[in-house]
Amino acid sequence: MPLPLLIAPSLLASNLLNIEQDIRACEAGGADLLHYDVMDGHFVPPITFGADFVTMMKGLTTLPIDVHLMVTNPDHQVELFADAGADWISVHAEVTPHLHRTLDRIKQRRCKSGVVLNPVTPLEYAFEAAESCDFILLMSVNPGYGGQAFIPSFLQRCERLRTWLDAQGLSHVEIEVDGGIKVENAKRVIEAGANILVSGSGVFGGNVAERINALRG
Ligand code: DX5
Ligand code: ZN
Repeated sequence: MPLPLLIAPSLLASNLLNIEQDIRACEAGGADLLHYDVMDGHFVPPITFGADFVTMMKGLTTLPIDVHLMVTNPDHQVELFADAGADWISVHAEVTPHLHRTLDRIKQRRCKSGVVLNPVTPLEYAFEAAESCDFILLMSVNPGYGGQAFIPSFLQRCERLRTWLDAQGLSHVEIEVDGGIKVENAKRVIEAGANILVSGSGVFGGNVAERINALRG
């Protein structure tokens, strides 16, 4: 059975001074997840938001919150975000030395667990961790900023990962793509095997409902 296509607007591109309005637009537009980018000023240069803000958002919306931890010490954050109400949590392979342990801790907190790979990180990291994952997030830009250009090598990587997962009996493991996803390239990334599309500037740069709808193809 094909995995459901999920659209996850990235709140990094929303108007943070009026985030409630943007979250309502995501709800009305049929978004499936809210993507929440946590940056620590160390793994990536910018600093964004922490777990307390997730607690506040949980009081505002029932949409699941997909926390992407771009931090050097994700093990310090997992419980904080799970307790705050995160529904999906992903950690970068490049900075998580005990991946299985961390992914298991995420699952123990009843969150979906994911590993994230930067565009040049070998897919073997995902192969090794896949059995402990609900999803694998392949970056299609180098993390840290919204509005960057999609790196085309994503397509081959994604196809290879999807084929490998299916061959291993891991068809339930979902593939998320993050970075430079727009209406123009959504069809190609879906064909390559991604079923969770993160889009920041691609969604909030126009009419949210129309953009979400168009991303579905
Ligand atoms: C970048 C973040 C992305 C970002 C995507 O490091 O992980 O989630 O918000 O923004 P766009 O869709 O504008 O590339
Ligand atoms: Zn992200």
